[in-house]
Amino acid sequence: MLKMAKEKKEEEKKSSSNNIMVGVIWNCADIKFLMATLLIFFLLATLLIPFKPPFLSYSYSLSSLSCVSSSSNSSSSSSSLNRFLQNKTVEQQQEQQDSLVLKRSFATVGSAAYLFIQMGAYRGGPTTFAVIGLSSKPLHVYSNPDYACTWVPADNASASVSGQTYKILPDWGYGRVYTVVVVNCTFPSPVGADGSGGRLFVTATAGGGGGDAPAAVGEKFLALEEAPGSVNMSLYSAPPKHDYLYCGSPLYGGLSPQRVREWLAYHVKLFGEERSHFVIHDAGGVHPEVREVLRPWIERGVVTLQDVRDQERFDGYYHNQFLVVNDCLHRYRFTARWIFYFDVDEFIYVEPGLTLGTFMDSMSKYTQFTIEQMPMSSKLCLKEDAGKNGRMWGMEKLVYRDVKRGIRRDRKYVIQPRNAFAAGVHLSQNFDGKTTHKTEGKIKYFHYHGTIANRKEPCREFVNATELTFEGTPYVRDDTLRKLAGSVKMFEAKKIGSVLRRTRQ
Ligand SMILES: *[C@@H]1O[C@H](CO)[C@@H](O)[C@H](O)[C@H]1NC(C)=O
Ligand SMILES: *[C@@H]1O[C@H](CO)[C@@H](O)[C@H](O)[C@H]1NC(C)=O
Ligand SMILES: *[C@@H]1O[C@H](CO)[C@@H](O)[C@H](O)[C@H]1NC(C)=O
Ligand SMILES: *[C@@H]1O[C@H](CO)[C@@H](O)[C@H](O)[C@H]1NC(C)=O
Ligand SMILES: *[C@@H]1O[C@H](CO)[C@@H](O)[C@H](O)[C@H]1NC(C)=O
Ligand SMILES: *[C@@H]1O[C@H](CO)[C@@H](O)[C@H](O)[C@H]1NC(C)=O
Repeated sequence: MLKMAKEKKEEEKKSSSNNIMVGVIWNCADIKFLMATLLIFFLLATLLIPFKPPFLSYSYSLSSLSCVSSSSNSSSSSSSLNRFLQNKTVEQQQEQQDSLVLKRSFATVGSAAYLFIQMGAYRGGPTTFAVIGLSSKPLHVYSNPDYACTWVPADNASASVSGQTYKILPDWGYGRVYTVVVVNCTFPSPVGADGSGGRLFVTATAGGGGGDAPAAVGEKFLALEEAPGSVNMSLYSAPPKHDYLYCGSPLYGGLSPQRVREWLAYHVKLFGEERSHFVIHDAGGVHPEVREVLRPWIERGVVTLQDVRDQERFDGYYHNQFLVVNDCLHRYRFTARWIFYFDVDEFIYVEPGLTLGTFMDSMSKYTQFTIEQMPMSSKLCLKEDAGKNGRMWGMEKLVYRDVKRGIRRDRKYVIQPRNAFAAGVHLSQNFDGKTTHKTEGKIKYFHYHGTIANRKEPCREFVNATELTFEGTPYVRDDTLRKLAGSVKMFEAKKIGSVLRRTRQ
């Protein structure tokens, strides 16, 4: 059954591409016909007019009107074709081909999705680069878009070199109009590795473009430029600057400044200010009050804030989350020993008896590992906190953990980026080495779902129980993070003083 359906689809695809090919040939024939008519007109004019106007001094030949030669310059031929079509309606373009057939034509207008939208291009060593971007998803599903890369040395004397490419589509098929593409471009020997500078060009090809020949011609673009003396290869072999780097997903919506404040203080304390760095991506969620919460940590150099709001122009999965996590991977691949992927409503917790450092060292034989989720209620608070809950931190007052069984819960992950070629949201699928999920009893994360984009007081129900069922879900009291709140507040005060004391929900 499946096979038959597939074959049928193939057939349909074939016949529809044939139709389009016929259409393209006709468009060329159409021009030829027009040009031939013009030629005859001019020939007649030369015979009838006694003097020769200068524009007739050119000699015309039908062979110079060949569509094959003009299609070698696709952009000019397709755009003059479009200009020609624009002045005639499709109906006006119909021609009686012979006494039996009315030849129909198809007018193309505009272009629905870009062939490639570059977000970043990064060197990954003496011979290799990654170019990260978006590309039309139907093109990748139904055609075979392709990429080629060239290195052009800055000195102009040395010859340019062609690399080998392969593409990774890291978004698990979740793309929408656009899908994420990581183009890996690797050269047979080092390029620009002596710091002599150069330019990396990528040619993107639609790979058939749904059967339309002009659209199959590649577009070449400058992906990366290195000024002479700007690269130092020791970066790629030296130990990374940071032990832990946080790559955040795009933040959007009306985020709670107080929740972001708590999250940051907690994780800077856990990761260690000297050993870590946090990259926050603003997709519209970092409004002025959230920015004030980030400001002291940005000024201390522990947080980098990137404005990625423009990605909203391109319809991908979840504010282009997969694009952003892949850009972050390659951007920081050589400055971090480990990259953490989780969200700002999630709190990483290392079990007592371990420190983050000893635990991470014990994981070094794995390229990546995943972390189990502890889902927390975003509504249930303690009766004894009623009245003072407005001044308490979320991790302090939200103490009920969802213990419903039989639910597959998302995990988050940590990866050694030098072994990774692309990133996912819950896991990477493109890496060298091993993955483990056996981290129970060592590390977990508390997830306060529904608290981060809520600017109201989260406590809705005040209860006094160690176990209860609320809205059909069983909960148990879990004070794990509540017990740490005091030390996190002290840590924040020690590092940045009391500038954030007036932060609101
Ligand atoms: C293609 O056409 C454009 C516009 O007419 C022109 O600038 C360009 O040089 C042509 N390229 C080639 C390869 O002929
Ligand atoms: C199309 O029409 C416009 C305005 O009437 C004219 O300027 C232009 O030259 C025409 N183009 C062609 C290709 O006939
Ligand atoms: C490209 O792929 C090769 C082979 O998997 C890998 O060694 C290299 O690190 C990759 N380059 C980048 C920049 O990811
Ligand atoms: C190489 O060529 C480019 C473009 O033609 C020019 O801008 C650049 O100055 C040249 N570089 C050298 C070192 O001659
Ligand atoms: C490259 O960086 C290393 C370490 O930071 C430094 O020792 C070396 O001098 C640098 N090399 C050049 C050519 O700048
Ligand atoms: C909570 O319950 C315990 C015993 O079940 C009781 O001693 C305590 O007073 C209660 N606290 C509040 C705030 O109601």
